[in-house]
Amino acid sequence: MGMSEHTEKPRILSGMRPTGKLHLGNYMGALSNWVRLQNETVGGQRKYDGYFCVVDYHALTTDYADPSQLRQNTLDVALDWLAAGLDPDKSTMFVQSHVPQHAELHLLLSMITPLGWLERVPSYKEQQENLSGKDLHTYGFLGYPLLQAADILLYGNPKAPLYVPVGADQVAHVELTREIARRFNFLYASQSPVFPEPEQLLTPSPKLPGTDGRKMSKSYGNTILMSEPEAEIRAKLKTMVTDPARVKRSDPGNPEICPVGDLHKVFCSPETVAKVWEGCQTAGIGCIECKGWLADAVVKELAPLRERRAKFEAQPALVHEILDAGAVKAGAVASRTLTMAQKACGMLLRDPGSALEADAEALRGGSA
Ligand code: TRP
Ligand code: SF4
Repeated sequence: MGMSEHTEKPRILSGMRPTGKLHLGNYMGALSNWVRLQNETVGGQRKYDGYFCVVDYHALTTDYADPSQLRQNTLDVALDWLAAGLDPDKSTMFVQSHVPQHAELHLLLSMITPLGWLERVPSYKEQQENLSGKDLHTYGFLGYPLLQAADILLYGNPKAPLYVPVGADQVAHVELTREIARRFNFLYASQSPVFPEPEQLLTPSPKLPGTDGRKMSKSYGNTILMSEPEAEIRAKLKTMVTDPARVKRSDPGNPEICPVGDLHKVFCSPETVAKVWEGCQTAGIGCIECKGWLADAVVKELAPLRERRAKFEAQPALVHEILDAGAVKAGAVASRTLTMAQKACGMLLRDPGSALEADAEALRGGSA
């Protein structure tokens, strides 16, 4: 008998880099999707066992030269998650560096990872070119996707599927993770695999332009934060770019090509959207009025988030407790997986015959 029950529930693992407060693009894309998955049930039971990781080591792979904001950013991401409705009673949320097995599995997997596999990951060269202000010719940055593979595979249960809800930009990383899992199993565990091959759950994300009309992104400086105060939301939307054809109030516009129109589709009721489409195309409304309606909807959508964030901000000790409890829960799963992997690699376990080892064996073979 194992030391803890293993749930046969499908697991979910995802992560976000702590690079600052999250914005509406992060929320309407990844985060609201996580909350939805967290709350899915079948027959009154939660459908998934969810693990959500603030990947602070990943932030250091690109921002090692200036870590001055890392601690605050890590807390801010956790606060934004709680604000969005990730619930520590339903999901396990934790900080990557608090579960050292992430670093250990990364090291173990590095033994079997051909350099070419990492050099071929598209984000490697792209980011080196795009983030040209940063020297990314480092060992750590080359290993970024392998660290991500370790993040994911630690939560693999050989007896249950493992899903990774991420956007399209992460397809190559999940695919690499599958290749690593396959290679490890082939080398060390051909009888009964240690790692299941994870599956991507592609996050449907709506088109969400920032205030300058380009995709909302921290690097463009065009974001509206999840935690943005109401006055700021209104001020930012007021200066948002519109259909350039509408120069004068009397010029009709086309909401289909207007970034404000895109946000209406995401945040506003069908009635408001209909009113905007009609009013814009007939020059019946002005852009200021149109943006005011949008601001009302965004403010309303974010109100419960603001309230939850404020509650947790006022209790920093509670946030630390939540993250600590998350690290304990995640660590229990991660250490079992790591033990399985180390044993498969022929390493001498520190405590042979331990309950942990038996548990890991049972999980893997079902015959310990
Ligand atoms: N690379 C991911 C991103 O930039 C972040 C990440 C790190 C991640 N580890 C992960 C996502 C594990 C999913 C699973 O968004
Ligand atoms: Fe865009 Fe609204 Fe102005 Fe039309 S009325 S151009 S949708 S801001």
